[in-house]
Amino acid sequence: MLKAREIIDIYISFFEKRGHKRIENSPLIPENDPTTLFTSSGMQPLIPYLLGEPHPLGKRLTNVQNCFRAQDIDEVGDNRHTTFFRMLGNWSLGDYFKSEQIPWFFEFLTKGLGLPAEKLYISVFNGYENIPRDNLSENIWQELFDNEGVDISDRIFYYGVDKNWWSRSGTPKDMPIGEPGGPDSEVFFDLGTEHDKKFGEKCHINCECGRFLEIGNSVFMEYKKTENGFEKLSKANVDFGGGLERLLAALENKSDIFQTSLFLPIIKTIENETAKKYGDYKKEIRIIIDHFIASTFIAASNVIPSNKEQGYILRRLIRRGLDNFYKLGGKEIMPIMRSIAGQYIDTDPELEEKFENVKNTILQEEEIYRTTREKARVLIEKKYKTGDELKGISKISSEDAFLLYSTHGLSPTQIRSLGYEFNEQEFAKKMEEHQKLSRAGAEKKFKGGLADNSTMTVKYHTATHLLHAALRKILGNHVEQKGSNITSERLRFDFSHPEKLTEEQIKKIENLINEKINDNLPIAFEAMDKEKALKSGALGFFIAKYADKVNVYTIGDFSKEVCGGPHVDFTGKLKRFSIIKQENIGHGARRIYGKLEN
Ligand code: ALA
Repeated sequence: MLKAREIIDIYISFFEKRGHKRIENSPLIPENDPTTLFTSSGMQPLIPYLLGEPHPLGKRLTNVQNCFRAQDIDEVGDNRHTTFFRMLGNWSLGDYFKSEQIPWFFEFLTKGLGLPAEKLYISVFNGYENIPRDNLSENIWQELFDNEGVDISDRIFYYGVDKNWWSRSGTPKDMPIGEPGGPDSEVFFDLGTEHDKKFGEKCHINCECGRFLEIGNSVFMEYKKTENGFEKLSKANVDFGGGLERLLAALENKSDIFQTSLFLPIIKTIENETAKKYGDYKKEIRIIIDHFIASTFIAASNVIPSNKEQGYILRRLIRRGLDNFYKLGGKEIMPIMRSIAGQYIDTDPELEEKFENVKNTILQEEEIYRTTREKARVLIEKKYKTGDELKGISKISSEDAFLLYSTHGLSPTQIRSLGYEFNEQEFAKKMEEHQKLSRAGAEKKFKGGLADNSTMTVKYHTATHLLHAALRKILGNHVEQKGSNITSERLRFDFSHPEKLTEEQIKKIENLINEKINDNLPIAFEAMDKEKALKSGALGFFIAKYADKVNVYTIGDFSKEVCGGPHVDFTGKLKRFSIIKQENIGHGARRIYGKLEN
């Protein structure tokens, strides 16, 4: 039986044979994209190229991308949803289109993996405003199934923008101006399970009952949202994504992805540690597996649990995973973490050296969580104390439940798991108000980010290159980039350097950067062979493993770096740069925050 690793190999070589170049699995935490906290699909790091910039490796790309989707946290628990998953991807950047993509994917499924055509179902796009119904895709599918002698009439369905349109931000009305997107065609695998009427009278391919598993999505990304509706991009692209874990379930004929060879050993470990059976506690065990896998990969990206952004998501995953684990009577989380690492190490070998760090992050958070729970208990017991005795409290007011939530980060389930009951409706009302506020903040951030894609963010990206070069000139060549994060408000840059920067050093760095800004140096890029780029002295600490060609950006003769862009054309656009803060981030590395004048 094929394993996850083998599916990846078959997929990549299938597309390499058809002229695709393999690209790197991008970092789970995007480096220069302030619009989103995590990489949630393979296309995300390719946005500039989908919008028309030339990719150094050409027009046909493929990879397997680690993805995390925070929005799916509450879906985890059924037979198919996970927050962390691997996406198999292939892209045409203005090269082939529907007539190649659809037959290739069909061939990969039926010949490459040997899945039976009679278990596949298809959806295509029904049209929207000036964008026509996708008759071509239907015709292509028709011919493919005809050739296999399978009647397509009851296995192809048309849907509108709610189901068969894809962009990072969802349906057309949710897309910001400038965002690329397009109609898609999806392939579903029939697991053959019985329909559950809880999800509606009749089953259909998009039914939530779990019978049909979406295993691949070909997005025909040829549109861009503009002020005046949708316009065609300069080139018509294909953005394909297929879920590895789901393909594995289809192949192993399992109606539950958690029962595949990838997750079964982890289930066994959890059963051992809790003395509970998967069959009796499916939901809890699925949550434990998913949340600790996701936590492993997020912690391996150097995220520390906190109350904001990625750190907040990591905290939520660890705590929710622990709640479910403790609920089943589990005590020691490490055997589960080890079992997870064991299952992923052959596809993600860097987990081996990062495991110690992951372990420390998770154990520290477990300790903090234990203390938090204890403090919450004391807070409530003090408040409800009658006479001199601390009383075992079971009922608390919804205000106090919300106080616990807002001060200790406990979810309603967590509060209940401490043994407290409260008016859930009142609590939900307070939560809703609270979420409305934070949603408004998040939307602002999303819009802010993309609107700035062409202005402030790009300027900060260029400023990061100037900073990197200046740090090496002033502090020495031991300085190496360790990480970078850009928003429309500031840049953040991590680099190796053993001690605190002095006031004088900071002044020198700022002056040097501002001198280069005043010189109004031109920024240029060139596609080069990887070896040649490195020999020419271009900095490239995150250089792609699979790429043989890379883009090298130069700023006058001051800076030269391997990079995906985009950048401004002249440094003068940056006006003025200042360092606003420095921090020690441990492991011999420092962090600098920098700001540009608006
Ligand atoms: N980007 C597409 C998706 O995530 C393929 O479904």
